[in-house]
Amino acid sequence: MNRNILIIDDEVEILHSLQRQFRRKYNVLTCSDPKEAIIMMKEHDIQVVISDQRMPELSGVELFGILKESHPDTIRLLLTGYTDIEAVIDAINHGSIYRYIQKPWNSIELEAILNEAFEKYDLIHTNRNLMLKLKQHNKELDQKVKERTEELEKINQNLEILNSEKNTFIRTAAHDLRNPIGVAASMANLIALEINSLPQNLQIEYLNIIEERCDYSLNLINNLLDISKIESGQLDIAAESIDYKDLIQKTIEFNRIFAKLKNIEIKTDYYDDPIIAMLDKQRIEQVLTNLVSNAVKYSYPDSQVIVKVSRKGAMLRTTVIDSGIGINEEEHKGLFTPFYKASSRPTGGETSTGLGLAIVKKIVTEHGGSVGFRSKPGTGSEFWFDLPQ
Ligand SMILES: Nc1ncnc2c1ncn2[C@@H]1O[C@H](COP(=O)(O)OP(=O)(O)OP(=O)(O)O)[C@@H](O)[C@H]1O
Ligand SMILES: [Mg+2]
Repeated sequence: MNRNILIIDDEVEILHSLQRQFRRKYNVLTCSDPKEAIIMMKEHDIQVVISDQRMPELSGVELFGILKESHPDTIRLLLTGYTDIEAVIDAINHGSIYRYIQKPWNSIELEAILNEAFEKYDLIHTNRNLMLKLKQHNKELDQKVKERTEELEKINQNLEILNSEKNTFIRTAAHDLRNPIGVAASMANLIALEINSLPQNLQIEYLNIIEERCDYSLNLINNLLDISKIESGQLDIAAESIDYKDLIQKTIEFNRIFAKLKNIEIKTDYYDDPIIAMLDKQRIEQVLTNLVSNAVKYSYPDSQVIVKVSRKGAMLRTTVIDSGIGINEEEHKGLFTPFYKASSRPTGGETSTGLGLAIVKKIVTEHGGSVGFRSKPGTGSEFWFDLPQ
């Protein structure tokens, strides 16, 4: 560490004598004009200043008054005779000087005072650095607390949104279940009450309604269970290498029964033979079934549905194309959201819970893939999903 002393005295003898005494231990700078001392203080890193009190233009106490403002950490020592005692006491009271040394001084005593002055300087300096560091830490801490609070507020807001979405979900599910179960219950009641008088054809009609409402409820419950399983992260994707054409064929066979009722033909269009893909067989079958059943459900009789498999960069794209009723453009943004039903309704009285596409999107996303669609009212729709290969 630097050990610099500035000594100011208009008597050159005194300057020389002090310089001689301390030059081996400290870096001693001297000057005989207090005004010049103010400039030197700016130019050098001075830790201790010793000044004579009696100087023609500026007294030592006056000089220290100025230095106290410009260099508060510097230790100021005054050299003075008995006659100036009042000015010295005043300066001490104002904190302008640290110690005063009486002329003529005792060398050993002065050396001890200087040692003490440097120790004092080091203490002040270290304290100031610590304070600065503390302030900086406090500032950083404040910033961190602010950022963390903002993060938590955001998380909280998202949780509130999630909670409200969940409530809407439960309300809609309960509402959608109450209707069919209510209808089935009252039909069953009617049959039970009038079992002897009700004509058989009406009984069959009511039983058919009960069966159809039960199918709907069962479908809805299965879909709800799937969604909750996916949402709670319980849907483990067990991807395996499979013959994708086989899986599609199997799914189509299953849906052909419903398609036949409307005389809808399901065709395929493959880019290669065979197509080997890494996927969860059961889950992707569910995706395909949802898309193919939608295509059949929202198509007019005597039409065609095509399942096409193509490559899209590194992805395997599966597109289900229909020439059915299509979806209005303003309704596009609602698709893939649970319980969303567009104004396009099933053409053959099939059930519609509004959960199929939401499940499709979740399963495909879990596979690391994405979904998309294109649809025009009156022309038809194309729904696709891309899976990594
Ligand atoms: N291929 C399509 N053509 C026309 N509209 C469609 C088609 N696919 C979906 N939609 C519209 O999007 C809505 C949401 O479809 P989604 O498959 O999620 O539910 P859903 O078919 O109504 O019921 P489910 O849960 O039984 O599948 C449908 O109600 C329908 O209005
Ligand atoms: Mg559907």
